[in-house]
Amino acid sequence: MKILITGGAGFIGSHVVRLFVTKYPNYHIYNLDALTYAGNLENISDIENAPNYTFIKGDITDADFMDTIFMEHQFEGVIHLAAESHVDRSITDPLAFVKTNVIGTMNLLNSSKKIWKNDFENKRFYHISTDEVYGSLSEEGFFVETTPYSPNSPYSASKASSDHFVRAYGETYGLPFVISNCSNNYGPYHFPEKLIPLFINNIINNKPLPVYGDGNYTRDWLFVKDHAVAIDLVFHDGKDKETYNIGGFNEWKNIDLVKVLCKLMDAKLGRTEGESERLITYVKDRPGHDKRYAIDATKINKELNWKPSVTFEQGLVQTIDWYLENEVWLKNVTSGQYMDYYREYYESDESGKNEVDILYKDESYQIIGACMKVHNNLGSGFLEAVYEEALEKEFINQNIPFKKQVTLDLYYEEEKMKKKYRADFICYDKIIVEVKATGQVPEIFYNQVKNYLKATELELGLLINFGANLLTFKRVLNTKYRK
Ligand code: NAD
Ligand code: TYD
Repeated sequence: MKILITGGAGFIGSHVVRLFVTKYPNYHIYNLDALTYAGNLENISDIENAPNYTFIKGDITDADFMDTIFMEHQFEGVIHLAAESHVDRSITDPLAFVKTNVIGTMNLLNSSKKIWKNDFENKRFYHISTDEVYGSLSEEGFFVETTPYSPNSPYSASKASSDHFVRAYGETYGLPFVISNCSNNYGPYHFPEKLIPLFINNIINNKPLPVYGDGNYTRDWLFVKDHAVAIDLVFHDGKDKETYNIGGFNEWKNIDLVKVLCKLMDAKLGRTEGESERLITYVKDRPGHDKRYAIDATKINKELNWKPSVTFEQGLVQTIDWYLENEVWLKNVTSGQYMDYYREYYESDESGKNEVDILYKDESYQIIGACMKVHNNLGSGFLEAVYEEALEKEFINQNIPFKKQVTLDLYYEEEKMKKKYRADFICYDKIIVEVKATGQVPEIFYNQVKNYLKATELELGLLINFGANLLTFKRVLNTKYRK
């Protein structure tokens, strides 16, 4: 099964990617992430060479790019976590949240709908959401799956909107979806702008602990690995068109939580008890601050037999230990140095791993668009020559520069011999377009295009397959030019 996980370089996403890559060797996991300030490939460096894992750097707000990726890889499942996720940032830049959380989700829905057409058998779009869409509770009561939405921050409003769109695509187009709404997560790889990692970092560095308002705000905390396990269960066993609330049965007032954290940190750091508590500083309240979140997770508990595996104290100790043992990670994220990781390991990657997000985006999209038009007009079942002729006309129509039937000195790596070979089209002096009319694209054709490229100065190849009901294609990089 081919699964796209979005936002897999972020906090929760990295745990989900790790779980799926290690637990399901027969799945192929594609992790798509824009690597914003919150995305960090160091979060998943331990699994980056797994054979069933591919990283794609990409932005979900780019509709064309999403279509391309979906067409190329033909995902059967989507687990969508990519989002702008920090309430405080949403207060200063709400539009960024609309773009990623609403429009980005729409793009994924549209791309899924396009490749799945009406064949929804064994397909699933899983949208990860938050309990914050339900608004704020008073001292009593819990959020259940039927609690009306009442978002108060631009973040929660954008998440609520995306949830509605997912549900609407299910009702309107029959798209098979499932949604889960989870409470506050904590654990390793959490970006230190959220309460728990920020305060751990500040305690280590003897910096003030800014408690908003009177500190009497309540959150329901869940260890991130337990959330990842719940996501695995919902993805595989959750019922279509259902929502599952996920929570830790673990409510804490912020100020009480901070005091426990200070106490545990004092013990870990060999400080006298009460030393870190002195860092607590009450600051101006967050505007529109939700008073209390609390999840009733009975449904997922009863239907899918899920419950948290650790107590809060166990989870907190594990989290503190992780931050103390991973000071380099913490330093890198706080200094912004983690961006270098991508540059070092991926931009210079000879394997062409991130081949899809790069070269000649516009040109290759234009060619793919022309091919789609020809495929839409002709359908499948013709000889390659028929597609080539129609494509030639379409290229002329769209002013795409091309040379046809170009003879190349093809170098077969295995046999160490040279042989003359013909490429169907060369476009823009940069891209080889190889037309096939087979039901499936065998590896040999992929290697053929790769070999074409090696024999040339061209940097990108497109292997277009007209033979199936749906046009499919592969983009191939000439890796010898990657720096
Ligand atoms: P995060 O901010 O740590 O990670 C988000 C990831 O998405 C990052 O890797 C970022 O690079 C990526 N991203 C952002 N914009 C993108 C774009 N336009 N295109 C592609 N990738 C993009 O967030 P998180 O805390 O891991 O949250 C993950 C999901 O879970 C979110 O949808 C969030 O709403 C939801 N959620 C989070 C919590 C929580 O406590 N953190 C609780 C419930 C639900
Ligand atoms: P946060 O981790 O930002 O998560 P969310 O806003 O999604 O619940 O905040 C958790 C709680 O901690 C929330 O009530 C706001 C409060 N808070 C502070 O008091 N000080 C801080 O510096 C931060 C980041 C949060």
